[in-house]
Amino acid sequence: MSGQGSRLLLIGAPGAGKGTQAALLSKTLGVPHISTGDMFRAAKAMGSPMGVMARKYMERGALVPDKVTIGIVEERLQQPDASDGWILDGFPRTPGQARALDELLARLGQSLDAVVKLTVPRDELIRRLTGRRVCPQCGANYHLDSAPPAHAGICNRCGHQLEQREDDSEQTVMHRLDVYHESTRPLIAFYEKKGVLHRVDGTLPVGKVNTAIVAALRAPAAAPVKAS
Ligand code: AP5
Ligand code: MG
Ligand code: ZN
Repeated sequence: MSGQGSRLLLIGAPGAGKGTQAALLSKTLGVPHISTGDMFRAAKAMGSPMGVMARKYMERGALVPDKVTIGIVEERLQQPDASDGWILDGFPRTPGQARALDELLARLGQSLDAVVKLTVPRDELIRRLTGRRVCPQCGANYHLDSAPPAHAGICNRCGHQLEQREDDSEQTVMHRLDVYHESTRPLIAFYEKKGVLHRVDGTLPVGKVNTAIVAALRAPAAAPVKAS
């Protein structure tokens, strides 16, 4: 992709497939996959003070405060492996985070190449998340109906016991979807105005979503929307 599209954001509701697609794109583009959710879960697993604090928000499906989230992304984007590009998954999620990212990129002399918005209807998001099971050892993802492990409750890859993510209970999923609508959806218009937004149908099979994203990155984004 000759340097084009090497600084990307994936935006979408919980369960839209951001993590799945970011992992695939990270291999294709050779740039790191940076997920704030994964960073908070790793901090939580280590029991660091930041992880203990983040858990209080995550377990009820609320957002971790901007100050903390912006701080960890600022630090991460300045690591040497992120100098030639990155794929941000789950950041920014608030207008404050989007402004902070703009400021950081300006300071670093970097530009944002593209924003990919994955669209999936609410019923399918709920189905995906409430049926998801994850391997805490190797990070593999399963679904009770559509992608079950060969042996119930056991990871195919590493044999570890599978778990349900703490925030994947039906009640918390509903709250996460509401938080997405209130806090994150406004960013779609923000990036559309900048002329970097690509909309991709996230209901297709995983491989086809990946192909659609790669094709979208080669095509021009929707024209910037003029301020009225
Ligand atoms: P985070 O970990 O980012 O969770 P999320 O945004 O709620 O999204 P998910 O990871 O659940 O879904 P995804 O879109 O990655 O989908 P996936 O590929 O896994 O954040 C968790 C929490 O951390 C937040 O609630 C908040 O507390 C905190 N946090 C994180 N970032 C923050 C920020 N910037 N500011 C403040 N707080 C923050 O796929 C989902 C399932 O669907 C999987 O089972 C998968 O196998 C399946 N699937 C994927 N694609 C397909 C497909 N095409 N067809 C069928 N099934 C599919
Ligand atoms: Mg994810
Ligand atoms: Zn595993």
